[in-house]
Amino acid sequence: MPDTVTAPQPHDAAQNSLDLSHHWMPFTANRAFKAAPRIITEAHGIWYRNDRGDQLIDGLSGLFCTPAGHGRREITEAVTAQLGRLDYAPPFQFGTPGGFAVATALARILPDGIDRVFFAGSGSEAVETALKIAMLYHRRRGEGQRQRVIGREKAYHGVNLAGWSVGGMVRNREMFGLGMAGVAHMRHTHIPENRFVLGEGAHGADLADDLERAVGLYGADTIAACIVEPISGSIGVLVPPQGYLARLREICDRHGILLIFDEVITGFGRTGKAFAAQSFGVTPDIITMAKAITNGTVPMAAVAASRMVYDTIVEDNPSGIEFFHGYTWSAHPVACAAALASLKIFQDEALFDRAAALSPHFLDRLGRLRAHGIVEDIRGYGMLGAADLAAGATMGARGFQALTALYDAGAIVRITNDTLIFAPPFVMEPADLDHLFDTVEKVLAGF
Ligand SMILES: Cc1ncc(COP(=O)(O)O)c(C=O)c1O
Repeated sequence: MPDTVTAPQPHDAAQNSLDLSHHWMPFTANRAFKAAPRIITEAHGIWYRNDRGDQLIDGLSGLFCTPAGHGRREITEAVTAQLGRLDYAPPFQFGTPGGFAVATALARILPDGIDRVFFAGSGSEAVETALKIAMLYHRRRGEGQRQRVIGREKAYHGVNLAGWSVGGMVRNREMFGLGMAGVAHMRHTHIPENRFVLGEGAHGADLADDLERAVGLYGADTIAACIVEPISGSIGVLVPPQGYLARLREICDRHGILLIFDEVITGFGRTGKAFAAQSFGVTPDIITMAKAITNGTVPMAAVAASRMVYDTIVEDNPSGIEFFHGYTWSAHPVACAAALASLKIFQDEALFDRAAALSPHFLDRLGRLRAHGIVEDIRGYGMLGAADLAAGATMGARGFQALTALYDAGAIVRITNDTLIFAPPFVMEPADLDHLFDTVEKVLAGF
């Protein structure tokens, strides 16, 4: 059992007097929320408690970020000690021990050769950083005209300008105009042939040839990078078809295009290995990561680049600052302390192996949701899964109904449109997974 900081506390009645009017909430139906709020007040292990005093099981690891469970004492102690020793120092032209230590610890678990690490504060920033690295890499090689980026439909790469432009989630794009120039999208891999397949579907590897078509249309010498999530998480867990990622790798190699894996969700054991690149046996040139890097405790993100990319930008540069880029919070000492403590927990408790061991039971319980007529498709891999519900009157209405019904029944999962997304903490026992899915089944039976 994880070592939590305190036992659950009784319901705090003072929460009921919160003024809800000033906080403009992210990715939230603000008016609906404020009419019927869902206020979470505590988290311990795999459980939340809300302001009504209810216990809710965490079926989402926070937001894909707390695989070791909530309230881990080791992280609290490391962060507290760091705040007492060195709360902050400027990250430009100065270093603190934490940044070097975390980069070294990450290099140990990253795919071989992808071991030069740049820090950012969020997954969105990591994506922007990765794309700028790709463009600068080509410029330093004398191919500055390579500026196009190829993304994919139904992808999520965060909310900043480059990220939503290369992303492919319709609602994240349609409100904001033209986006970044020079972006094209491959088709997504959510195809009916792989319906109800758990793991990699047998069909659809040829969809990777869309990258070859982009090369034909625009010319390889205009394309800097292809960016994909190895498993598209936020749209509803699109597992790559067998051979798809390897085919992308081959096409990139053939044309000198950098391959970026956005592992903000899939990193840190979600697929049963440290990174999905290792689970699928395909090594990109750049990997983005965030979320679980500090077990969700302190905002932090990172971009890991191959030595070839790093050397081209840094070692081969005559003098001065090689990469005019960075954030106030890059390698923040407190985030680094949280990351080191988290990585130590992952290692000491062999949590990535534990995720691999729990996965068959998780996928079995997920697959059984098929018995509910309202479930139209199920996908999953490792400790990540999704179930599409038949749409209600409007897109997202059924999903929202499920979210609130599950909340009332004592479970938290993610909803995208009408899709339920599951990403349980790796510290769950099989019985905890049963409790989560029993709750989901009870709710679905009422639909
Ligand atoms: C694949 C991927 N990239 C980027 C992001 C953006 O991360 P953040 O919300 O930390 O900016 C997310 C967030 O879910 C993500 O799933």
